[in-house]
Amino acid sequence: MQQAKFSRIGFVLSAAGAAVGLGNIWKFPYITGLYGGGAFVMVYLVTILFIGVSLLLAEMLMGKRGGSDVVSNFEKDAPSHKWAWAKAGYLFVIGLIIMTFYSVVIGWIFYYLYLAITGLPTTLDQAQDIFNHLYHQSPWIQIIAHLVSVLIVGAILVRGIKGGIEKFNLVLMPLLILILVGLMLYAMQFESFSKALSFLFMPDFSKLSAEAIIRAVGHSFFTLSIGIGSIMVYAAALPKESNLFSSALWVAFLDTFIALLAGIVIFSFLFQFGGEPAKGPGLVFMSLPIIFAKLGTVGTVVALLFFLGMAFAGLTSAISLVEPTVMYLESRWGWRKSKAVFWSSFFYFAFGILMILSVTDTTQSYLMIGKKTLFDAVEFAVDSFLMPLGGILIAIFVGYAMKKEDVRAILSKDMGDTLFAVWYFSIRYIAPLAVLFLAYNALFV
Ligand code: PFF
Repeated sequence: MQQAKFSRIGFVLSAAGAAVGLGNIWKFPYITGLYGGGAFVMVYLVTILFIGVSLLLAEMLMGKRGGSDVVSNFEKDAPSHKWAWAKAGYLFVIGLIIMTFYSVVIGWIFYYLYLAITGLPTTLDQAQDIFNHLYHQSPWIQIIAHLVSVLIVGAILVRGIKGGIEKFNLVLMPLLILILVGLMLYAMQFESFSKALSFLFMPDFSKLSAEAIIRAVGHSFFTLSIGIGSIMVYAAALPKESNLFSSALWVAFLDTFIALLAGIVIFSFLFQFGGEPAKGPGLVFMSLPIIFAKLGTVGTVVALLFFLGMAFAGLTSAISLVEPTVMYLESRWGWRKSKAVFWSSFFYFAFGILMILSVTDTTQSYLMIGKKTLFDAVEFAVDSFLMPLGGILIAIFVGYAMKKEDVRAILSKDMGDTLFAVWYFSIRYIAPLAVLFLAYNALFV
């Protein structure tokens, strides 16, 4: 299937758009809160640097070489007798699984955009009530907001990823950074600013449980969009001369920078207003609205911009989560784009409703998996199992199944021999071992 090529900046922005999403602004602060701060952040940063960037590059490399959907990219280099390798390409389905909750959360953002116009909560109690009411008692609002997200994502996918997304990213990513930096400058006036910094950057390793490590490593995969073929199908549309190594570094840098910025802002304000860091999925929706309400009219404008920026960050990631499936259905099953988009959307819309019902008070008890709601269980499974699984398949494939000369041929211009050797070592040994360690801990500890 022939598709439009990205410009280089378009690719970096779109890959950054895929990476920078709800994981950075919604999820990173709340899991950092849940798992105790500094030590968790440290594991996350180390993983991004030593494993994340390597895997990001590996995925880009497969996309650029294969130039097609995820399954075809695996098949291209799969040794013919090892049929199982070709099947690894089906990992792209994880994107749709993620969308079952991701789209629901984008729906929450739409609801908060509406609140920004009609009136935000002014106290923490009020903010908690509003969020809890939405989360536990308003399935219809959530379903409608989820549907709006499904429709927007579908409308953009039907036009192809290049059409509007690149332009939106170009405007909204800098805007998001500006807003976050502005909020950080404001937060610097509070005593709690230094408390937030130490919460995020002073590791207390006694707080680091095995589960915290698993989630930190898993989240670094999630936030960089590794292991499900999103970045791979974007890279499949790269022009020949693009530098993969610097693109991978840029994407990882922007992603980490935005997550840390969001974390600093949110925790400063949270500590200032006496909130609890371990609030779970509602954190961003409870702490920030109060701040915005306190800023008066300016706050309303900032709230609108912030939630709008967050919605776009979410939507650009959402598109990248569904695109691998759409591309597969088009290129392998010969479906029209509109049909492929419709059925992919239908799938995650329907399962998204189950997610919503699993956190609704009246239906929750029917949709529990052990002690977790379906919503939490799926999110946990994605982080601690599915995405690392995708990551390890890609690492082993690039490190062992692909011929070293082929790999080197693509990267030789982008990085010197030494860097190449370090990266190759990481892909063959460090990344798989780290993921095995993760899997072992997730299953047995
Ligand atoms: N990286 C996105 C985020 O942090 O919100 C989520 C995501 C997008 C994960 C695309 C995986 C993916 F392929």
